[in-house]
Formats: sequence, structure tokens, C-alpha cells
Amino acid sequence: MTGDGAGDKKRAGAEIARLMAAVAAHDRAYHRDDAPEIPDADYDALKRRLIELEVAFPDLAAPESPTRRVGAAPAEGFGKVRHRVAMLSLGNAFTDEDVGDFIERVGRFLKLSTEDIEFTSEPKIDGVSLSLRYETGVLVEAATRGDGSEGENVTANARAIGDIPERLTGDAPEVFEVRGEVYMHHADFAALNAAQEASGAKLFANPRNAAAGSLRQLDASITAARPLRFFAYAWGEVSSLPADTQSGVIAELGRWGFKVNPLLRRCASVAEMLEHYHRIGEDRAALGYDIDGVVYKVDRLDWQQRLGFRAREPRWAIAHKFPPLTAFTVLEGIDIQVGRTGAMSPVARLAPVTVGGVVVSNATLHNEDYIAGRGSGGEPIRQGRDLRIGDTVEIYRAGDVIPKVLDVDLARRPADSQPYEFPHQCPICKSPAIREEGEVARRCTGGLTCPAQAVERLKHFVSRTAFDIEGLGAKQVESFSAGGLIAEPADIFTLEARQGLGEIDLYRRDDKGRPTNAKSVENLFGAIAERRSVRLARFIFALGIRHVGETTARMFARHYLGWSAFAEAMTAAASDAETRDRIIAIDGVGAVLADAVIAFFADAHNQGAVARLLAHVRPEDAEAPKTDGSPVAGKTVVFTGTLEKVSRAEAKAQAEALGARVSGSVSARTDLVVAGPGAGSKLKKALELGIETLDEDGWLALIGG
Ligand code: IVH
Repeated sequence: MTGDGAGDKKRAGAEIARLMAAVAAHDRAYHRDDAPEIPDADYDALKRRLIELEVAFPDLAAPESPTRRVGAAPAEGFGKVRHRVAMLSLGNAFTDEDVGDFIERVGRFLKLSTEDIEFTSEPKIDGVSLSLRYETGVLVEAATRGDGSEGENVTANARAIGDIPERLTGDAPEVFEVRGEVYMHHADFAALNAAQEASGAKLFANPRNAAAGSLRQLDASITAARPLRFFAYAWGEVSSLPADTQSGVIAELGRWGFKVNPLLRRCASVAEMLEHYHRIGEDRAALGYDIDGVVYKVDRLDWQQRLGFRAREPRWAIAHKFPPLTAFTVLEGIDIQVGRTGAMSPVARLAPVTVGGVVVSNATLHNEDYIAGRGSGGEPIRQGRDLRIGDTVEIYRAGDVIPKVLDVDLARRPADSQPYEFPHQCPICKSPAIREEGEVARRCTGGLTCPAQAVERLKHFVSRTAFDIEGLGAKQVESFSAGGLIAEPADIFTLEARQGLGEIDLYRRDDKGRPTNAKSVENLFGAIAERRSVRLARFIFALGIRHVGETTARMFARHYLGWSAFAEAMTAAASDAETRDRIIAIDGVGAVLADAVIAFFADAHNQGAVARLLAHVRPEDAEAPKTDGSPVAGKTVVFTGTLEKVSRAEAKAQAEALGARVSGSVSARTDLVVAGPGAGSKLKKALELGIETLDEDGWLALIGG
């Protein structure tokens, strides 16, 4: 290379660096901030010059060059935080009897007399949960719950809440994640809404929404100006615990500088728990903030540990909900919504009425039998009273769930009212709607030709616990699909390319043709690109297979670990009875579920849609449970007969925690059968097949329990 050449190259390198920075800055100004700083022609000239130099000196072209990017990175939203310990929800108890059942379950699991088990009892705060990570006593990260596994990084916002200490007082462990609820007092809520109204801003429906909206502000100074409070009641990852009971740790959190609820009590019996529940219920209105029940937790932490979790709920805690609030209003009409599987759901259109501070104007009516006054077994409900348009109905609302119609006041029924006739035709595609033997739902038979079903599938696909694409919610899906932009999931991932090719136009433009929503379109493309790789469980759930909820999807992901293993098994099972049997033998899978998944994979249309989607999206392999040194990792274990030292449920939970699969039936694929007294045909089969068998002591010795 000549001296001149080297000099050229050096100059080019410097110019490229300058141009890259300039183009990137103008990209941000234009796309992200909607505030271009130079005329388009000048911008184009800069970019052309940069491309020219990159072509002339290809080895100087940086991979992060703005010429290789379309638009700019999304505006800084909240980063994602993967929870090291999942943020769980709670099971619900509605009656005293449910609470009794819970305590019995705990006792059975631990093989202890219920009299020996103490519980804490405390209000269930109606706010939004938040996880706060302290390292050496200093707040380093705050995250919302999100889907329980992954939340949003709201550290700056958390720092703006007065009840949240920046630094812990006393001896804090190396790592301690404190969890609790962000909430708002009634008086503060009323003042906030009054201020919102005065400034023409939107009003919040209730204190919980106000707390959620105030916490999730990109500008943390807005959070700081909102009267948010925080109660600590739980924890996530910790390097050590300051006590060996729930009540002991909570007391310590108080000493570290957190607000903890003053109504927490330790209870030694179900009678004490219920008494405390009723007492809190009576004081509820005077508390000054919303609570929606009482949470009971097993006090001893070693027992909490043994009890562990089922799906997304701890076995050691339950929420005892307060009875819902009710109100009377007029049933003005009945709409039929068609779901993603074609099920037609009647929705009550109500004259708006306030129930517990929230205006309600629709409520679910479940299905046609419910309207007719029949239960799922054909038995009369509401003493057989049917619901008619024009009726005065009693509705109720519990927490977050959709309000329900509870009863009808026949004394106020209009004289000319007619029984409601449930349509036998899909209101959207007009296909016949049929009700199969034994099913409660009447279904549209239009399948994917029914636009309503297609849209509902797409809405499910993008929902929060499925693909969770920011900026692509139910409303956008409806409008994109009505506008012919998307018909199936794969289409979401080609939006950007089609926009680039000019096939579609997502931009709204001013009278000079300049985009007015450039920022949100670029953000959307960024959010879609982020989801080109997605966890296997989310991917399976997003497909919208009948009977496959989040928990089931997670179970399949844990079992098969990769998409191809899952898809191959489900595809093979259509023509291979043995594979189908193996699927049914997976713990938690029954014939109905297995057949629904097998049918999904056998359907040519689904096959096409999934293949098209996989061209754009990579389902990440699930992680096998951490089972270093586990003697049973990856093995299939069957428990049979009576276990005497631990309950069947605990044995199963232990095996799963060690990475084993627990199956209900013995086959050639079984690795180990643990047989207690009274074991019969399963043990016999295991011996015939030459499978290793152990008694309970042998099992406990094997796992070191
Ligand atoms: S304990 C592993 N205690 O209720 C159990 N939760 O329905 C962790 N909540 O997501 C939760 N008050 O946001 C617990 N005193 C309390 C609570 C409480 C409110 C919320 C929390 C949780 C939800 C579950």
C-alpha cells in the first residue's frame, strides 16, 4: 500500500466515524423524537457520503453503522428484568370452608397435624407488586411483576417513593430482594384525580390504577410527584435470611426501614385466622386504602420451603378474598363475542352503574344456559330465573375480574319482555353455530375463515403472557387486521420489510406527506424485532391451542425443552398410539389435552401458519432445571403405593425439583419406581420390565432427604 493510500484510509476512517455519529444523531432526532434538525436533503447527502466511503473501504464499515439499520433503536422504554426468583400469584379462598381445606392440604403435604402449624394473617393490599433488590444494603434495582418471570425495570421510579429506603438500616445481608405492594391512600387518590381533572388530564378509575399508572412513568419525576406508598410483605432472592419464620423476617424488614402492615398477626388455629379475617373485614372501610382480602402464610420458613410451589402459586399461602360488591342496573342488551376457538360468549350491556368505585357497563353472562337459568349440569340456578333484555339485574365485581350478573329482580321485569334466544349462527361470519354433546359453549363452525376467530387468535398471540409485543395490543391488532395488514402471526414479523418495500404504509402523514407517527412506528418495529427470539413456553402458549393455558405451556416446555422435540412428539402421536400414550403419561396431561394438541399439529392450516411463523421467530430452548449432582435428573419416576414419611405430593415435588419427570404409569421408558406398602399392578409391571424399584427409605436415601 502506498503512503497516500494509508493516508486516504486514515482520513476516511475519521470521516466515517464523524458521519456515523452525525447520521445516528439525526436518525434519533427524526425517528425517535419526531424532531428532525436538518432538511431531508442534507440528511440524505450525509448518508450517501457515508455509504460511499463504506463501499470504498469495506473493512472500515462498522457493524453498528447507521447505514445497516432501519430507523433508530426504540425510544428508551423500561428495560426488562428477569426475576431470579419468580414473582408468584396466590390461590384464592372465598369461604371459611376453603380456608379449612387449605390448612388441611398443608397438613397433609407436610404429614403434620394442623394444630402444629402456625400461620401469619395480614391484609391483601390492592395495589401493584414491586420487587426491590438491595446489595450490601443499597437499593440497586426495582422491577414490576410483569408476567412473574420477567418484569420492567422501574428503579428510578422506586427511588422516588418515600416509603422505599435507599439504604437499609442495620445489618443487611449481601443480597436481599424485598417484595411488596405499591398503593395509594383514598384521600391522596381523590386529590390526585381532582388535580388531573383541573388540568384536563385523564382520570384514574381507582387507587390501584392510579398507583400502577404512577409507577410506570418513563419520567420518574412524575412518579415522585404522585403520593405513592409501599408495604413490604415478602422477598425474592436473598443471600441469607434474618429469621426462620415469616413473622420474624417481616419484623426485621420493619427494623431495616420498610413500612410493614400493622395488622399482621400470628395465628395458631383456623378459628384465630377466621376471626382476624372478619375483624379486618369490619375495619376495612376505615383503613384509608384498598384491601381485597387477607393473606395467610405458613409461619415456619423451613415448612414454606418444603411446601414449595404448584404452577404459579405457593402451597404455603392463600388469599382469603372479601365478598364482592354488588349493585342493581338494567340489562340493556346482550352482545355475542366470538372467541379464538369459536366459542360464543354472551356479554351483558348494562346501564352504567358504579360498583365499589368503578363504573361498570358490561358483564359476562358465561353461556346460553346461564342466561336461561341453568347450571352446567342442567340444574336450575337463580331458582331457574332466566335473564331477559330490559330486566333489572344484580351485578357484582370482585377485584380485577370481569363483573358478573348474579341475579334478576323479577318484580321489575317489563310486562312485554321475551325470553332471550341464543343465536344459532355466528354473528360475524354467519356460519352455523353448533353445540356439541357435553359442551357448554356453542361454537361458530367457520374456523379460520371466520374473521372474528382469526382476530382473536392474533390478540391472544400478542397478549401479555404470550408474545407481549409493546405497542401491539388488542386495539392495534383489530385495526391492523381490519386494514388487511395482518392475517396471521407470521405477518407481524414482515410488517417492517413490507413497509420498507412500500407494500404497506403504517405512517400517518401530514399534508406534506411527512409521517406524524414515525416514533411509534419505529418503536413498534423495535418491539417486534425483540421478539424474534422468545421463550419456548411463551411460544407454545401463543399458538392458542385449545386447553393449553400458560401453566400447561410451561409444563410442555419443561418436559420437551426444545420446540422440535415437542412438535415431533405431537406430530408423531397422530399416527402412533405409543407416542400418544407417552404424552398422556406426562404428569398433568390427560387424554383431552393430548388430543387437542395432537389435533392442532395434524391440521394443515396450523402446520402452514406455524411453519411461516418459524421462518421469523426462534423459540428458545427451555432450561433444564438446575440439578447439579442430582441422581434423578432427566429420569422418569413413578410413585405407587402408600408413602409414610412424606406425602405423595411432597415426594413428587422433590423429584421434580431434582429434574426428574414424574409419571403416573409404568412403561419401558420408566427409570425408577418408588413403591410403598400396598403397591400393586404398577410395581408388578416394573418388576416384569426389569425397572429399578426402591422403597420409600431407599428413595429418601437416594435423594439425600
Ligand atoms: S404474598 C409468594 N402478601 O397479591 C406469595 N401478596 O394475588 C407472594 N398482595 O402478586 C405474595 N398483598 O401483588 C402477598 N400481604 C400480601 C399481599 C400480596 C397484596 C398481592 C401481590 C401478589 C398478589 C397475588
